[in-house]
Amino acid sequence: MQISRRGQVPPFEVMMILDQVAALRAGGREVLSLCAGEPSQGAPTDVREAAIRLHSSSDPLGYSGPLGTIALKEAIAGHYRRWYGLDIEPESVGITTGASGAFVLMFLAAFDIGDRVAVARPGYPAYANVLRSLGMDVVELAAGAATGFVPTTEMLDEAVAKGGGLHGLVLASPANPTGSMIKHEEFGELIDWCRLNDVRLISDEIYHGITYPAPSTDDGSTTGASTTGPPTSQPQTGHPQTSSGRDRGTCAWSLDRSSVVVSSFSKYWGMTGWRLGWALIPEDLKASVEALAGNIALCPPTPSQHAALAAFTQRSYDEADLAVAQFGKTRQLVFDRLPDLGWGPVAQADGAFYLWANIHDQLGKYPDSPSWCRALLEQSGVALVPGTDMDHVDGHDYVRLSFAAGPRTVAEALERIVAFQQF
Ligand SMILES: Cc1ncc(COP(=O)(O)O)c(C=O)c1O
Repeated sequence: MQISRRGQVPPFEVMMILDQVAALRAGGREVLSLCAGEPSQGAPTDVREAAIRLHSSSDPLGYSGPLGTIALKEAIAGHYRRWYGLDIEPESVGITTGASGAFVLMFLAAFDIGDRVAVARPGYPAYANVLRSLGMDVVELAAGAATGFVPTTEMLDEAVAKGGGLHGLVLASPANPTGSMIKHEEFGELIDWCRLNDVRLISDEIYHGITYPAPSTDDGSTTGASTTGPPTSQPQTGHPQTSSGRDRGTCAWSLDRSSVVVSSFSKYWGMTGWRLGWALIPEDLKASVEALAGNIALCPPTPSQHAALAAFTQRSYDEADLAVAQFGKTRQLVFDRLPDLGWGPVAQADGAFYLWANIHDQLGKYPDSPSWCRALLEQSGVALVPGTDMDHVDGHDYVRLSFAAGPRTVAEALERIVAFQQF
């Protein structure tokens, strides 16, 4: 029997390592897992309580509309008013099965087979894998240490000069695996470039709200090619700052509503397993996205949609912000240990909860980061992700360390890594 070539995408290494961690733990090993992009605090209290109330309600929790309930679309529109000062019609919001579900819908609606879509390398592997399986031609932009791990318009010009025009660009700011953020002005330049070149921007804003002030140096000043410093101005529309001066990230719809915004309840609200995300859908894609959504998944999960309404209470925002402050402390702890680890260059981790680090000088007897990570897991019980998952060209020198696990786990893991590297 035939099996399709399009289905033969590489497995998502992180999920495989998680399986390995589970198997080791089942065998009685104590493993510190710094693999998953999964906040340890879980869903906000109000969301959990709403879910418990659902249990005893008489609501049959059947299908919703293909792109979700009106109530949740309205609540998400309210979130854009609250965070970005943007007025968004609830009808422009499409609720999806995680951000992951939104990508499939939006890629299908926006691009045809053979279309050229650019993604950053290193980057979240599912963009390229899903695009390829849908028949698009993936164009990689090598966004390394030289540009603070963010793509630039020069890279886009180069891609066009080399291989012809582009049809799409996928951006994430903050990004996975680097945590790098594109500065507001540079984000604007990228959007202008897309508009000028008739390129559809897909802006993955899943890590918005999980951002940090620039790390401080010994003299108290701030550093970082890809970081934004402490607040100097009042919030601007679409480019908001928190009361503590963190830049939450630029919303693409504050600059161009022909772009697609993708976001999720998974990260800021810690609701990974609830499988709920959304897209802001440009007018010209609405009809096809709605038809595709109804055919592919019928609707996003209804119980999660009901409970997620409680993600927008003041208490939920407060709890999520508290978790971000905790990530910030753990991040500082990681940066403080860098001299002992001997890793570098590293991305500044302006946002998200990952450290993307070059470990070339610490590979020792291991030829590359996958074998180094395997040995670290077997010998020291610490699970990191080898960089090859996110960068198939340079990733053999890199690892991704998730500091979402919390300060105690991360501190202990760093201790073990330092000891592992001494042998
Ligand atoms: C950059 C990025 N986009 C999207 C996703 C998928 O998230 P979701 O759980 O909403 O499907 C992830 C998950 O790790 C991610 O890191």
